[in-house]
Amino acid sequence: MNYLSPSVLAADFGNLYADCAAAVSNGARCLHIDVMDGVFVPNISMGFPVIESLRPRLDCVFDVHLMITEPERYIERFSESGADIITFHAESTKDIGAVIGLIHGCSKKAGLSVKPGTDIKSIEKYLPYLDMVLVMTVEPGFGGQKFMPDMLDKARRLRQYKAESGLTFDIEADGGINIGNVRRVIDAGVNVVVAGSSVFSGGDIAGNTKAFMDIIAK
Ligand code: DX5
Ligand code: ZN
Repeated sequence: MNYLSPSVLAADFGNLYADCAAAVSNGARCLHIDVMDGVFVPNISMGFPVIESLRPRLDCVFDVHLMITEPERYIERFSESGADIITFHAESTKDIGAVIGLIHGCSKKAGLSVKPGTDIKSIEKYLPYLDMVLVMTVEPGFGGQKFMPDMLDKARRLRQYKAESGLTFDIEADGGINIGNVRRVIDAGVNVVVAGSSVFSGGDIAGNTKAFMDIIAK
């Protein structure tokens, strides 16, 4: 099953609930929530209050992408705020296994993400314990960047690993995905598509969401 996870970062924050609801009511089953701390990435975005405010109003999967250093400090708080999937970066902690354990200890799904410069090989031993792997197709930190097509090789390797091992983790891709390249992303093995500016910018959130769903549902 393929899912669209619109990245809230590109929404109009003055109209946040309505923007998110427009995506969810037109086929998006998830919302991708980017949390940045100004240290792991050179940008600051949103945190607990935003997640807590949206949670009771929206019936969808809250796909929280942590771009913060030492995420182990905050797993419990994000769990309590309403995250369903908590994804952290392989580059952000000394103990990846412990963070996965903390997320599962909160009965949430655990995702692990790699920056463009990080090889999949370095996270291979964690794959049996993960619910999702997030392949960054831009450098994390900002929306609206250009898609890096070479990163799809990582998705293909993960798909092959799944086929060989029988594991069932989801493969998510994030950054620069639009109507023109999403087919290629899906064909590489990705089943959770993050899209920010191409869903929320330009005014027609419902139409953009439907256009994505028409492609990825096939
Ligand atoms: C970048 C974020 C992305 C970003 C995607 O660090 O992780 O989720 O918001 O935005 P677009 O789709 O505009 O590249
Ligand atoms: Zn993201």
